[in-house]
Amino acid sequence: MTDTPAASATANQMWGGRFAAGPDAIMEAINASIGFDKRMAAQDIAGSRAHAAMLGATGILEPSDVQAIREGLLTVLSEIEAGTFQFSTALEDIHMNVEARLKQIIGEPAGRLHTGRSRNDQVATDFKLWVRDQLDAAEQGLIALIGALLDQAEAGADWVMPGFTHLQTAQPVTWGHHMMAYVEMFGRDLCRVRDARARMNTSPLGAAALAGTSFPIDRHMTAEALGFDAPAANSLDAVSDRDFALEFLGAASICAMHLSRFAEELVIWSSAQFRFVSLSDRFSTGSSIMPQKKNPDAAELIRAKVGRIFGANTALMMVMKGLPLTYSKDMQEDKEQVFDAADNLMLALAVMTGMVGDMTANRESLAAAAGSGFSTATDLADWLVRVLGLPFRDAHHITGSIVALAESRGCDLPDLTLDDMTSVYEGITAEVFEVLGVENSVRSRTSYGGTAPEQVRAQIARWKELMA
Ligand code: ARG
Repeated sequence: MTDTPAASATANQMWGGRFAAGPDAIMEAINASIGFDKRMAAQDIAGSRAHAAMLGATGILEPSDVQAIREGLLTVLSEIEAGTFQFSTALEDIHMNVEARLKQIIGEPAGRLHTGRSRNDQVATDFKLWVRDQLDAAEQGLIALIGALLDQAEAGADWVMPGFTHLQTAQPVTWGHHMMAYVEMFGRDLCRVRDARARMNTSPLGAAALAGTSFPIDRHMTAEALGFDAPAANSLDAVSDRDFALEFLGAASICAMHLSRFAEELVIWSSAQFRFVSLSDRFSTGSSIMPQKKNPDAAELIRAKVGRIFGANTALMMVMKGLPLTYSKDMQEDKEQVFDAADNLMLALAVMTGMVGDMTANRESLAAAAGSGFSTATDLADWLVRVLGLPFRDAHHITGSIVALAESRGCDLPDLTLDDMTSVYEGITAEVFEVLGVENSVRSRTSYGGTAPEQVRAQIARWKELMA
């Protein structure tokens, strides 16, 4: 008979009662989550302390045991925070690592902590608490970014710049209007984060393995102690869904998409060809070979990092989509992706806020670009409709011919003479030149939500009040 190496390992001290042998080393490698779920140590200990207090209040445990457990858990927490805690892969995860250490510190009462609960409700609780903290952090990150955008919008509420469609000059807009477009986007991201938090805030603790428990526990008490609005109403659902993490990833993905679009604009705008903005030295880098260069690395990295957030969303959807109720070990794969997505979202938000706060809009370049590319052609067509009473389709056609004329001359619309204009359409008068200037163009767009500085300032005021 040959000796199998696996058989020589000892059975797991937490659940090894019916096992004669411990796991194979390679089994331990795939099974253990301690390498990453130790990030939930503080949440795990908070959950256990709340659970222990409740076991005492309901008379399930003796007050002396409860006190020993609750104090011992604080000792464990301080060891983890101090970096002296020895994490063990053999103990699989954060839950069993904490409990095993508690046993070393306080002895026998530690074994009573797991009364009326399971790792299934424990992990769902820990992870919810962790994700909730991230939703709160994202909220703060978004508030800071919106503040930085409002400052930019206020400084340049009436600075003209080109508005684009297809990245072709379309119509003049204001810098403030463009900044406020992002305030609207990040404002919706903020709402999504807040909505997700409100929806996810129920406590899985006490759902136990899946069916609830026969101990007379008080789930309302633990829910309240952990800052949840209520206990989750169905024990099967409580241990088996991760939609709260998916909502976080969904909101994070949309926010990341907005961050990436803005980052892309900053990359374009900071180029020598555009010169719309100068990024500060604090948020750019140089080239080791080309001395003239100042690279928008921060914006590029934001643009790139969002891929990880979208990837996390897809990965967790894939983990969850085929699982029968309730818990399956597949669900252990929920964490790493969410941790990574959260880290990168917070980093991207902070970097974007720093970049926006520091960047300088180049008012002259913006104005020069605003006036080029026949940007007031629509104003000309509208004038033909408004003043001469032409149908818009005809006005559009006439304007197209005037643009073609300017193009052939190599000049912009305001540089044409009245004779040039009347050679295309007889009825045009000198009054037309008033609408061809970009300043007048933006000032005329006073419809609600339009680019006129008065509208932009009204929106800035509205947002400032909302954010106060
Ligand atoms: N480490 C596990 C996880 O992250 C904890 C729950 C284990 N539950 C179980 N029934 N094996 O999902």
